[in-house]
Amino acid sequence: MTDFRLVYCSENRVPLADQGLRSAMDDILAKSRRNNALVGVSGALMFSAGYFGQILEGRQGALEATFERIQQDARHGEVCVLDFGPVSKRAFENWSMAYVGDHSQAFDGWIGSSSFDGGIFTANALFEKLRSMVASAAHAA
Ligand SMILES: Cc1cc2nc3c(=O)[nH]c(=O)nc-3n(C[C@H](O)[C@H](O)[C@H](O)COP(=O)(O)O)c2cc1C
Repeated sequence: MTDFRLVYCSENRVPLADQGLRSAMDDILAKSRRNNALVGVSGALMFSAGYFGQILEGRQGALEATFERIQQDARHGEVCVLDFGPVSKRAFENWSMAYVGDHSQAFDGWIGSSSFDGGIFTANALFEKLRSMVASAAHAA
């Protein structure tokens, strides 16, 4: 059975005031880790004040069901699929949802400088960014 990978970006619609973003992220991560582990989905998530970027990996059915649910979530909008296709090996297989929130300023700066609407911001760029962030976070831990 083949694994698939989905890469998407979306606009962050979480109210930023008070502890809004913090508690929303806690909730998203807790649910992601529980649900994804149950259906064998792995991945990584990053966010900034403006955007989410997420990679999901798993069997096609589990991936599509998970993404259907995610797309309905009012905490983000303008969900834009950057890539979807089969992969020979997962990149985040040990993570039901890796999280690189500590680097959110880096994400902001990177998106701000990478012409998000101009097509320079590619699936591969997001994938490599997340992979290196997760690797360096794991290295630092
Ligand atoms: C940016 C973002 C990423 C999310 N990623 C996942 C995910 O990987 N897996 C998941 O189950 N839910 C994810 N969610 C949450 C879902 O939209 C939904 O709230 C959750 O799956 C509902 O879980 P429950 O039915 O167990 O309450 C994400 C939400 C947002 C806004």
